[in-house]
Amino acid sequence: MSADEVIPLARPVIGDRERELVDQVLRSRQLSLGPVVTQFEQMWADRIGTRHAVACSSGTAGLHCCLHAAGIGPGDEVITSSFSFVASANVILYTGATPVFAEVDPLTFNMDPAAVEAAITPRTKAILIVDIFGYPAEVPALIDIARRHGLAIVEDACQSIDGDYDGQKLGTFGHPAVYGFYANKQLTTAEGGVILTDDDQLYRQLKSLTNQGRSDDGAWLVHSRLGFNYRLSDVHAAIGVAQIERLDWMQDARAQVAGWYQDRMAGVAGVTPMYEGPQRRSWFVYAPRLDADLDRDSIIGRLEAQGISAKPYLPCIHLQPYYQEAHGHRAGELPVTEAISASTIALPFFCELTEQQVDRVCTALDAAIQAERAGAPGPVGAGAA
Ligand SMILES: Cc1ncc(COP(=O)(O)O)c(C=O)c1O
Repeated sequence: MSADEVIPLARPVIGDRERELVDQVLRSRQLSLGPVVTQFEQMWADRIGTRHAVACSSGTAGLHCCLHAAGIGPGDEVITSSFSFVASANVILYTGATPVFAEVDPLTFNMDPAAVEAAITPRTKAILIVDIFGYPAEVPALIDIARRHGLAIVEDACQSIDGDYDGQKLGTFGHPAVYGFYANKQLTTAEGGVILTDDDQLYRQLKSLTNQGRSDDGAWLVHSRLGFNYRLSDVHAAIGVAQIERLDWMQDARAQVAGWYQDRMAGVAGVTPMYEGPQRRSWFVYAPRLDADLDRDSIIGRLEAQGISAKPYLPCIHLQPYYQEAHGHRAGELPVTEAISASTIALPFFCELTEQQVDRVCTALDAAIQAERAGAPGPVGAGAA
């Protein structure tokens, strides 16, 4: 099979504008702590309508800084979702605190506010909200819970770039929200992230934390707190500037691809298309559910044999080997989360996927499910990662 026939899971849009802006930075010789990072931050603040945006080296780095700034530390508990990328919980461990996983809603896959409230103990200090697969969590209900119990909130909007709840942009709800810009995201800087906040004091603290704890007045080599090197370079920011310029187009293109998938998946027996509820989804992945009787790994093997990339996505955080070995988590703790995690399958999804390619994926998935149900042997040696 030629490389042309293989449909990858994700592929960023990189064009002349990205090359031009990166080249400008390289020619300027100001590769870090330069004006393009400031420009990138300003573009985000303007777009989302926050007073501030702090660029950082990754979504993980941004989340870690927000928890650190909230004073989370050893002995504390932070409630979050296990149906997320492992970084959501790792950042809690980095602070010395303990992640406590709340069950998710079976439709939105985001934390169920009632489960969050039930998980609160005297040690709970914060809620780390996750907007998984770009669908916003129940942000107002979670804010209400946090207010009543005196908890901080940090929002992991890494998968919900430019997302909103009831039309209000994530990042403008009074707590910091973080986007991640890894290459499979709606917008990429290769690696990178941004923290959005309206809080002037938090902004100064985050600028310092991401830059080795430098003093708030920016004095040269004066470090007023323990910080990190979580800076985004101007080279990465240059890619980001070009990407924000085309973000509306990229978001629309993703929504169009998702629409093609949703239409066709409605006709594929054994598949539940992605949930479409009252909120707008910022389309990050296309990951429908397979019926519980289907062997997902075998179906992935059949798709890959046809040159179609697919992955089991997302694994539960609490069932990751490290979380089981070092933190004693076990299967059965979170039945709803575990059932979702066992059945969702990520299919190729990116802006430039064509309608014909979506057809090819859906036809191949339909055939794979029918072959599975008919008990036909799958490709030898193929299977899920
Ligand atoms: C939900 C979620 N949180 C956090 C992260 C971490 O972001 P990064 O890879 O930029 O560190 C990701 C990245 O995929 C993510 O999907």
